[in-house]
Amino acid sequence: MTLSNGALRRRIEELGPWFHNMNLGGIETAPDHFLGNYPYEKWRKFAHAIPADLRGKSVLDIGCNAGFYSIQMKQRGADRVLGIDFDEVYLAQARFAAEVANVEIEFRRLSVYDIGRLGQRFHIVLFMGVFYHLRHPLLALDLVREHVMGDLLVFQSMHRGSDKVLELDEDHPFSCRELFNQPGFPKLHFIEHRYAQDPTNWWIPNRAGVEAMLRSAGFQIAAHPEEEVYICRPTGSRGGRAVYPTRGRFSD
Ligand SMILES: C[S@@+](CC[C@H](N)C(=O)[O-])C[C@H]1O[C@@H](n2cnc3c(N)ncnc32)[C@H](O)[C@@H]1O
Repeated sequence: MTLSNGALRRRIEELGPWFHNMNLGGIETAPDHFLGNYPYEKWRKFAHAIPADLRGKSVLDIGCNAGFYSIQMKQRGADRVLGIDFDEVYLAQARFAAEVANVEIEFRRLSVYDIGRLGQRFHIVLFMGVFYHLRHPLLALDLVREHVMGDLLVFQSMHRGSDKVLELDEDHPFSCRELFNQPGFPKLHFIEHRYAQDPTNWWIPNRAGVEAMLRSAGFQIAAHPEEEVYICRPTGSRGGRAVYPTRGRFSD
């Protein structure tokens, strides 16, 4: 893409506001991001945990936003990258960013709840920064496991509360109450109104909660390279299996 500096700046402004701070032709899209240079600063802490050479691999980026991670995957040589998001404003940013970066990526409007419609699995699935924005987080995780999961899940969630993780028995007697007050017991904190002025934050897990829910949905945690990031592989068991959409056409 050959745009003058002024035209590039205008287009970036027209497409804003941006959540991803991307460097497009020398211009930053969100230089005043409340998390700093985001998501670059996060990415550099776990980039080593994903294969550097993705030739021959397919990647699905769920909740791709402006495509920062989709572009990273394509630049590592992935054969096919599909970014999905339910927000057209972000998808327009992603298409523009990919054009400026000169990489071929498909971006499609699709909710995570509808990924069964894709009817295919991907070697690598990115599910970053979406979990706590969902009213039905475990359903989404079950759907990812059931419909699109290939080899590797790259998962990220904000978490709040304790960082402790309790070793738990598989069952507890009905009289066992105190356990629920232990900081390391798996928990989701429900946000009725807003958190950080964002009404789309619904359930914020503690660390034990993230890990237990990943296992429950049929994932084994292979690495935890950054505070909020987990690299997972599907286990033989499918956990709870998704209850929606009904099993059938797209599940095997
Ligand atoms: C905090 S941003 C994370 C963006 C990116 N994955 C990252 O880690 O930087 C959350 C993104 O998830 C998208 N999103 C939220 N709910 C979604 C849903 N049900 N289906 C698809 N995308 C969703 C939002 O539009 C937004 O782009």
